[in-house]
Amino acid sequence: MTPAQSMLRAATGLNLSKSVVERAIKNRMEQTSATDHDTYLQQITPEELTALVELVVVPESWFYRDPQAFVAMTDFVRTRLAVNKERLVRILSIPCAGGEEPYTMAMVLTDAGIPPDNFMVDAFDISPTCVARAKSGIYGRNAFRAQDLTFRDVHFTNAGDGDYRINDTIRKQVRFKQGNLLEFDLSTRSGYYDVVFCRNLLIYFDKPTTKAAIAKLEALLMDDGQLFAGYAEVPSFCQHGFSPLQYNQAFGLHKEAAAPARKPAHAPSKALPPRAARSIASPPSMPPVLSPALPVPAPRARVTAPAKAAAPAAPPAAVDLLAEARRLADLGDIKASENKCRDHLAQHPESAEAYFILGLLNELTNKPQMASDYWKRCIYLQPDHYEALCHLALLAEANNDDAGAAALKARAARIYKRQQAS
Ligand SMILES: C[S@@+](CC[C@H](N)C(=O)[O-])C[C@H]1O[C@@H](n2cnc3c(N)ncnc32)[C@H](O)[C@@H]1O
Repeated sequence: MTPAQSMLRAATGLNLSKSVVERAIKNRMEQTSATDHDTYLQQITPEELTALVELVVVPESWFYRDPQAFVAMTDFVRTRLAVNKERLVRILSIPCAGGEEPYTMAMVLTDAGIPPDNFMVDAFDISPTCVARAKSGIYGRNAFRAQDLTFRDVHFTNAGDGDYRINDTIRKQVRFKQGNLLEFDLSTRSGYYDVVFCRNLLIYFDKPTTKAAIAKLEALLMDDGQLFAGYAEVPSFCQHGFSPLQYNQAFGLHKEAAAPARKPAHAPSKALPPRAARSIASPPSMPPVLSPALPVPAPRARVTAPAKAAAPAAPPAAVDLLAEARRLADLGDIKASENKCRDHLAQHPESAEAYFILGLLNELTNKPQMASDYWKRCIYLQPDHYEALCHLALLAEANNDDAGAAALKARAARIYKRQQAS
């Protein structure tokens, strides 16, 4: 790692490539008319470092990003207020980028009828430019990527030139401040927040920084609070003391030690039975791969025409075999699940999903090499199989292959981002 990369890593925690860092330095040297690279770095002031940081952060965000997280958060806030309707529910959004995430929280809670005196959102980002944009409350087209834009009519005023300004009722529910998660002062905020959103930041950190960041978040969150992460970040939280909540597509977690009491009162009715949640859906250190949080694979064509009432029983359709394999795996019946996968593969030798499940079954039975082989075959057949990539990344980490793990995580994150955008 170059000295410039180390300096920016120390300032932000971000795992930055040499080319990204050098491009930023070149840009700033041009802006400040500096001529010598080494002198520029040696004489860098805190203000200049901040300007450099601005060029390497990724302030990508939009309103209602991963909307189920906001639904789950609202449910949780309601349960808090059901116990004590006088209380203030404290929520943290870090990093908040340009304010899209914390303002979405305020809009969703307001729309749900939560009185303004009952909640407050604190929002932090390392980038002063982001915080200034958030405080201005003015947004262009990029911030409005959600399909349903009704919220814009309700909570924004047209500011001309394609821009919209957030209304004051929402704005006053959020307090913005510049801040670095890794340097967060815990002295006054230990166990302070009921809800923490930390989404799409840890994907840019290396392993030790991720661990340090999670330790901060763990300290900030109340013991019975809920944390919402980016999808690609769930595995890291599971490795460091958190367990996934069975919310659908919300990527919510709670502190592991708090397990039974922390289950959301409004868990979706499709939540896995407790045994499944322990065995496959959310083993510690694993993403909730078989939980209902993930979309069920698209049904394939039936192998046989639907049987008429009086006709002899048709062989089970391929998709049913896989569904059955998943169900059996969730029940802990490894052997039967494996048989279903093999039956499925006999009909569909190129089924990536079947290899993925076989990988899980082998991991559960402590055969990591076999698991790895199956997951590799899975991503060979389906290169954008997100969960298989996450599992391979975890395996690589367990084998101390940090570079391999980082490459797999980065690939998974790119796929996730692409899937979100489509
Ligand atoms: C991709 S955005 C995520 C925003 C929002 N949470 C979301 O998911 O839409 C990442 C943000 O992290 C901020 N950031 C990077 N390093 C940080 C750190 N150490 N502490 C706080 N914020 C940081 C960047 O400035 C950037 O705005």
